[in-house]
Amino acid sequence: DKDKPLKGKNILVTAGGTQERIDPVRFIGNDSSGKMGFAIAIEAQKLGANVTLVSGVSKLPDPVGITTIRVKTAIELSEAITRRFAEQNILIMAAAVSDYRVQNVADQKIKKDEDTLTLTLEKNPDILKQLGKIKQNQYLVGFAAETQNGLINAQEKLEKKNLNLLVLNDVSNAAIGFNSNENEVTLLRPQMENIFIKQTSKKQIAGELLNVVISDLKK
Ligand code: PMT
Repeated sequence: DKDKPLKGKNILVTAGGTQERIDPVRFIGNDSSGKMGFAIAIEAQKLGANVTLVSGVSKLPDPVGITTIRVKTAIELSEAITRRFAEQNILIMAAAVSDYRVQNVADQKIKKDEDTLTLTLEKNPDILKQLGKIKQNQYLVGFAAETQNGLINAQEKLEKKNLNLLVLNDVSNAAIGFNSNENEVTLLRPQMENIFIKQTSKKQIAGELLNVVISDLKK
């Protein structure tokens, strides 16, 4: 089917930002709006895929016809993906995952009695890295949100996490990346020339990214 090149493929997309609790009224979060991941999920569905969207915190509504699972913390995100990983053909991690969580989450609102307050953070699991280790035939796509030395850091993430493709975006540029409607990315793949996609809508980026995935899956 020419219009539906992803027909019969199961694809799981993550989107949005995670939130890590500090106490009942406070959390550690990030600026991800979910726009990038939701755009990928919607374009993949148009291309015929059977899409599961696992979203962290995002104000966007569930896309019509796409199974959408909402999570908050990195651990919840990890569990939601791991449970569904075996049946996936493609996994795309556009979510902005907190690298750390608060070690001792307070049961009650923390009082401002002291002049300084120290929070101890512990590392969250690196979800993509774990999936890179256990993947069978899954095509694994990661994102890299960088503010400096983008290409070098991205190349390292591609290799360390055993990915098929890594999407690099420069999040120090407010016109692209977090929360904006547009993005500008470089696609890195092992032993392949990088592909640069200049600033355009996240919808357009999503479509071009999926076209690269489709052509790789044909090989
Ligand atoms: O949501 P928007 O407002 O549209 O913004 C889009 C975006 C900027 C969030 C998106 O394009 C993006 O770059 N997402 C990845 C953000 C991120 O967490 O990057 P990272 O370089 O810290 O992580 C690298 C990769 O590992 C990512 O695919 C991430 O999902 C994954 N990761 C990170 C930490 C962790 N503990 N486990 C992971 O799997």
